[in-house]
Amino acid sequence: MTVNFSNVAIVGAGAMGRGIAQMAAQAGSKVLLVDSMPGAAERALATLAEQWRKLHDKGRLEATERDALIARIHAVSTTRELVHCDLVIEAIIEDLEVKRQLFRELEEIVSPSTVLATNTSSLSVTAIAKALRNPERFAGFHFFNPVPLMKVVEVVAGFKTANEVCARLAGYAQQMGHQAVQAQDTPGFIVNHAGRAYGTEALRIAGEGVADFATIDRILKDQAGFKLGPFELLDLTGLDVSHPVMESIYRQYYEEPRYRPSAIAAQRVAAGVFGRKSGEGFYRYPEGVMQVAA
Ligand code: NAI
Repeated sequence: MTVNFSNVAIVGAGAMGRGIAQMAAQAGSKVLLVDSMPGAAERALATLAEQWRKLHDKGRLEATERDALIARIHAVSTTRELVHCDLVIEAIIEDLEVKRQLFRELEEIVSPSTVLATNTSSLSVTAIAKALRNPERFAGFHFFNPVPLMKVVEVVAGFKTANEVCARLAGYAQQMGHQAVQAQDTPGFIVNHAGRAYGTEALRIAGEGVADFATIDRILKDQAGFKLGPFELLDLTGLDVSHPVMESIYRQYYEEPRYRPSAIAAQRVAAGVFGRKSGEGFYRYPEGVMQVAA
């Protein structure tokens, strides 16, 4: 099988960039990973290599395939090295101006036929594309966390995105073992729109003192069948990521009251209490063991 994109770059080597890089390498693409924070791309690669080694040790990955995967993926230090990529996927901070600046820069580097994609959770694909001279080649390619386990990818066409670009991205998602869903360029697309109440309303219930975080989580898991409670999910995503998403969707829906972000989340962001990544969120994570925080 020929892979839809043979040279793929991922910009942003955080939780999402690392996961997308893993899927791209496993699909058979050569992958370059770049991050503005020195050492971040190398750390992401080390984590991936370790995961593939462990899979081999458990007998779930041939040694040749493990070595091929590790050889297929490289860290680079600047976007100038992405010149030969046929697809660049951005997974950096959720900030419209920062994303626009990155794509402006990328358009000066890559070939005119390179497809450019954003993993944004909440920003308008059309608004990001406004920065580009050629917005036809640009689309949303929205994965979920953790990328290897969450099998849906939203392919989002902006106002000027070419149909062929969406079709190639959808085919590529399939080559990654994922299922592509075409979504309209509306705030939150499908999943983050339909799932709005899960985080926002749960924060409101906690804020009103109806029940505490752990009780809300337990009820939604035990009675409603969710795998993760809303506060466990917020801790997994990180409030540094999900609070700006809540703010962005609220603004884009003209301050619709039911999407209003929570002061509880804002205060935690200000304190640097993000979730798993900071060691404490709604729960505490000493050495990876989840405990209920005070
Ligand atoms: P993260 O904070 O784990 O990683 C972001 C990475 O981007 C960091 O390593 C940072 O150093 C790097 N970065 C920031 N600005 C940069 C720039 N200008 N150039 C290069 N690198 C830069 O964030 P995460 O969770 O990976 O999210 C990334 C994007 O994916 C955001 O747009 C977010 O909304 C979206 N997303 C996040 C999901 C989640 O559950 N965490 C789910 C789906 C989408």
